[in-house]
Amino acid sequence: MLPSLTWPALLGVAAAVAIDRRAPAILPTEDDLTAANYSSYAPIQVQCPKRDQWVRSAGGLSNEESLWVEGRKPKVLEGLTSYLERLNLSDFDLETYLTRLQENKANVPTLGMAISGGAWSSALTGTGALRAIDDRFSPAVEQQVPTYNIGGSWPVMGLVTYNFPTIDAMIHAWHVDISRGTATTDTVHAATIQTMLEQIAPKHEAGYDLSYMDLLGRIFAYEFVAGPNGGMATTLSGVADLSNFREHNMPLPLWQAPQLVASDTSFYGIRVPADNAAIYEWTPFEIGSWTGPEEFFPTKYLGMKMVDGLPVDGCVVNYDKASFMLGMAADAWNFWLIEAYSNNTLGSFAKRATEPPQPKRSLSKRDGPPLSLLNGIASLFQQAYSLSVNAALYVSIPNPFATSTSTPNSTIVPTNLTLVDESEMLQAIPLWGLSQPARGVDFILAWDSDGDAAPYSWNNGTSLHGTYLYAQAHGVPFPIVPSPATFINRNYTTRPTFFGCDANLTMTNNTQAPIILYMGNAPYSAYTNYSAFQSSFSDENMAVILTNAFNQLSQGNGTLDAEWPECLGCAVVERSLAKVGMRRSEQCERCFGRYCWDGRSDDGAPGFVDPALVLDPSFSFEEWNRTGPQGGEFWAEV
Ligand SMILES: *[C@@H]1O[C@H](CO)[C@@H](O)[C@H](O)[C@H]1NC(C)=O
Ligand SMILES: *[C@@H]1O[C@H](CO)[C@@H](O)[C@H](O)[C@H]1NC(C)=O
Ligand SMILES: *[C@@H]1O[C@H](CO)[C@@H](O)[C@H](O)[C@H]1NC(C)=O
Ligand SMILES: *[C@@H]1O[C@H](CO)[C@@H](O)[C@H](O)[C@H]1NC(C)=O
Ligand SMILES: *[C@@H]1O[C@H](CO)[C@@H](O)[C@H](O)[C@H]1NC(C)=O
Ligand SMILES: *[C@@H]1O[C@H](CO)[C@@H](O)[C@H](O)[C@H]1NC(C)=O
Ligand SMILES: *[C@@H]1O[C@H](CO)[C@@H](O)[C@H](O)[C@H]1NC(C)=O
Ligand SMILES: *[C@@H]1O[C@H](CO)[C@@H](O)[C@H](O)[C@H]1NC(C)=O
Ligand SMILES: *[C@@H]1O[C@H](CO)[C@@H](O)[C@H](O)[C@H]1NC(C)=O
Ligand SMILES: *[C@@H]1O[C@H](CO)[C@@H](O)[C@H](O)[C@H]1NC(C)=O
Ligand SMILES: *[C@@H]1O[C@H](CO)[C@@H](O)[C@H](O)[C@H]1NC(C)=O
Ligand SMILES: *[C@@H]1O[C@H](CO)[C@@H](O)[C@H](O)[C@H]1NC(C)=O
Repeated sequence: MLPSLTWPALLGVAAAVAIDRRAPAILPTEDDLTAANYSSYAPIQVQCPKRDQWVRSAGGLSNEESLWVEGRKPKVLEGLTSYLERLNLSDFDLETYLTRLQENKANVPTLGMAISGGAWSSALTGTGALRAIDDRFSPAVEQQVPTYNIGGSWPVMGLVTYNFPTIDAMIHAWHVDISRGTATTDTVHAATIQTMLEQIAPKHEAGYDLSYMDLLGRIFAYEFVAGPNGGMATTLSGVADLSNFREHNMPLPLWQAPQLVASDTSFYGIRVPADNAAIYEWTPFEIGSWTGPEEFFPTKYLGMKMVDGLPVDGCVVNYDKASFMLGMAADAWNFWLIEAYSNNTLGSFAKRATEPPQPKRSLSKRDGPPLSLLNGIASLFQQAYSLSVNAALYVSIPNPFATSTSTPNSTIVPTNLTLVDESEMLQAIPLWGLSQPARGVDFILAWDSDGDAAPYSWNNGTSLHGTYLYAQAHGVPFPIVPSPATFINRNYTTRPTFFGCDANLTMTNNTQAPIILYMGNAPYSAYTNYSAFQSSFSDENMAVILTNAFNQLSQGNGTLDAEWPECLGCAVVERSLAKVGMRRSEQCERCFGRYCWDGRSDDGAPGFVDPALVLDPSFSFEEWNRTGPQGGEFWAEV
């Protein structure tokens, strides 16, 4: 059932309120604002604080991030020490290694984790992976897996806005059994579409562009953002004030999305990102890009008008609602429409048809929401805000990097910044920000649950390969990553594989690139290839997902390879060894022989990715489906 198309209260408001774009005569300062001001979705105009600089060029990290990372290093060293001490590392002088890290903490490895997009299914399997590496989760301690320090995607917004709770506590708070977007009677942990449309109206009334993603962001927020009323008052920049962030106990969160520009290819008048589109990233500190304009701007003031690096019309806070910043990373509405308009011949999510007349990459992995749903929401926006599909389709943000010389179609600096879902560039795993040399990340766990291997929604390495191609085009050091066919033919879709272990298997033939551990969501103890549009999960289902991820990360608690925990440890420390004047141990050499991609490709036509349970191959999908936990609703059914 579609959400009801009439809700007089809201229509009354929308019709009666003329948009007032004039600033009040005297703007409040940020100090004048109260909690009540932040409880509204409306951005708030304030007097500009004194700042020497609003926009900085992307020469390196911001001061805030550099300082934060420096503060984080001792915490990582603590975690790393107890982690490595639990491992049975042989012929490795752990004491010397740790002493040398103590002496120069700059050499403490920087570890990242990237969780792919792919809606609820990916968010929840990714949460399982987060949980499996969390050293506060006791089986993880037993199984000797590390603590990480940078991340991406929906579950990460939960992790940081809830001030870094244990993953189990966080999942409890999420209420994964509630189907999002459907009518609900639970007004504490969910809200109706009508309520959420009323919530976002003040932003529109204040004269800011509104898009379908403001609504989707609210829907996601009731699950993934901390705070009453679906995290209504929670901003992303506010995360920097949370105790566990200030004390460097949590990872630094990072989101990213590519930019659309006027010259992009379009289908039915709907644009799709180019292969070389600029990728923007945002943290609680800053938003900006390392490609494209190569500039950064404080996240806290996103939404204000800037020209040539200076505020035009006062300053703005409260635009960076956590819900909106989450929605911004997931705007695939353009692809959903293209797919629906073309009867699934173009644009199937996550198919990125970038080159007319035939899409260069023709993927047809899964269907987007039906046209009736998209049209239903479109007519709600039309009625409530008089916004046409063209006006509400893309996220549209006042561009902090706008210049007085730019024209709307002068490529990368239009008046409004328009960002879409990164899977549209075949990069569903947010690896780009983590791969920037300025961050010096040594090791990344890349969790892929985009479900891009048709027809069974497993994974085939497309996204990791996609970032490799993008890194090549932009000259950023990255491991060499073989084709998806190689992933399938050599079973990297079900088995942990490291990329870039040796210098000669990186793009730059040196050790600047991080080592990347690829893990695609795979059936170890459960068939977790849920549809991306399943939007609720029973507690039993959730438990099955968590155990499956734990079994995958721990390789069945070592039953598949008793030395796996040590092998993972080897990859974690590898890049730092040269820095502290040490060499790879024989054990690590052995491990790398087993788990590192060796540079060989197998591009022969692969079959479908159709794996059996790794820990119990005789337990078929059909039998599991019949006997396993049931329950869950589908987003597309709303
Ligand atoms: C802040 O909230 C107060 C109390 O609700 C209200 O009177 C005031 O107009 C708000 N200020 C801004 C700038 O929105
Ligand atoms: C540790 O590794 C050594 C060989 O490297 C092995 O003999 C020993 O059994 C292992 N100990 C444990 C507790 O796994
Ligand atoms: C899609 O299918 C509908 C109904 O079968 C048809 O009217 C329409 O022309 C088709 N559109 C395209 C682009 O094929
Ligand atoms: C990998 O997945 C993508 C996305 O579904 C698909 O287009 C591509 O054909 C797949 N590649 C192989 C080799 O199966
Ligand atoms: C701007 O857009 C117009 C219309 O699409 C086009 O003719 C023109 O070439 C574009 N100019 C630039 C500089 O891209
Ligand atoms: C983009 O920016 C211009 C100029 O500020 C504004 O008039 C326009 O409505 C904005 N929004 C969209 C969706 O184009
Ligand atoms: C991949 O896994 C299948 C099923 O377990 C096995 O038959 C095949 O030999 C494996 N291929 C490689 C290259 O390891
Ligand atoms: C890469 O270097 C390693 C270590 O020096 C060597 O063992 C390996 O054979 C090389 N691989 C390739 C593909 O050149
Ligand atoms: C990589 O570096 C090694 C050692 O400096 C050199 O022998 C080798 O030829 C280089 N390989 C490539 C592909 O540049
Ligand atoms: C591994 O340990 C976890 C946590 O204790 C447990 O849930 C899981 O069933 C175990 N897996 C195997 C294969 O024994
Ligand atoms: C899940 O995976 C199994 C094994 O590949 C397959 O048989 C099943 O059809 C898949 N389910 C879905 C919904 O794609
Ligand atoms: C089993 O398959 C049916 C039909 O595809 C599906 O509705 C149901 O959710 C599946 N059960 C499980 C446990 O995945």
